[in-house]
Amino acid sequence: MIHSGYGGVVPEMASREHQKNIWIVTEQAIQNSGINKKDLDAIAFTKGPGLPGSLMVGASFAKGLAMALDKPLIAVNHMEAHILSLLIKEPMPAFPFLCLVVSGGHTMLVLVKQWNEMTVIGSTKDDAVGEAFDKCAKIMGLGYPGGKIIDDLAKTGNEKAFPFPVAKVEKYRFSYSGVKTSFLYFLQSKTPEFIQENQSDICASLQFALLKPLVDACEIAMEEYGIKELGLAGGVAANSSLRKRLQALCDQKGGRVYFPDFEYCTDNAAMIGRAACFKWEQKDFCGLDETTEPRLAIGS
Ligand code: KG4
Ligand code: ZN
Repeated sequence: MIHSGYGGVVPEMASREHQKNIWIVTEQAIQNSGINKKDLDAIAFTKGPGLPGSLMVGASFAKGLAMALDKPLIAVNHMEAHILSLLIKEPMPAFPFLCLVVSGGHTMLVLVKQWNEMTVIGSTKDDAVGEAFDKCAKIMGLGYPGGKIIDDLAKTGNEKAFPFPVAKVEKYRFSYSGVKTSFLYFLQSKTPEFIQENQSDICASLQFALLKPLVDACEIAMEEYGIKELGLAGGVAANSSLRKRLQALCDQKGGRVYFPDFEYCTDNAAMIGRAACFKWEQKDFCGLDETTEPRLAIGS
């Protein structure tokens, strides 16, 4: 992983890598699917949110391809696509459902009334949960991206070993700056040997503090909106403990929880394609003058 040595994605490097690899990846995907380029119905790209340079590479490539093949162009919202990744394969949630969207850049609770009617009912005041996983892993010296590393180490740990502060959910507002700071102070107060010996317990306790507010918010929202269908999406949806907790919550509430397959959790083209299919059915195409929007919100 090209960014791992830097402890995070380096935007300039990301766009250069996109530029270098986008045609190879596209060519391979088309070859693997066995579809002839000429038979494609449309070309879709991510309008935003995301890193400006990477978005521009994708949009420009899609425009070139659409022009060359004379196909319609479809602009897709990255976060809406994460939610619609739940509709790639059965079993799928029925509308309306609640969706917890958790990634490196976002932590949101979304009321999904229709594929094109979504309202954000909860969000974070500061860091996204994936970012908090990654930053805490970085200060522990665990590598990047840290979410999966913490998840794996936590599997054999005791989540009650170290009580890190759990931020209270105030009307679906999340906050991760407190737990991150307290985690840093905790590590600074311990010897490297202690940290090494207690790695699993530390990871399990940290993971508990990061996930509890999310699970609490889902519980409150299921009650407030009277909805029993709950979806999980975004990179952090791969987290095994979050899956278990939400499953337990839905079992207890007589609800049903839906997880995307692992390959559809972190950023992927299939979810952009799924969102584009909905738009294609409505002939919701865009022009060659369509722009990218690094801060595009859900429902805009
Ligand atoms: O959605 P995504 O691929 O990219 C965007 O941020 O849009 O999400 C990446 C995030 C990273 O922060 C990564 O650490 C986190 O998802 N992640 C996980 C796990 N797998 C990936 N976090 C916790 N547990 C995991 N198993
Ligand atoms: Zn994403």
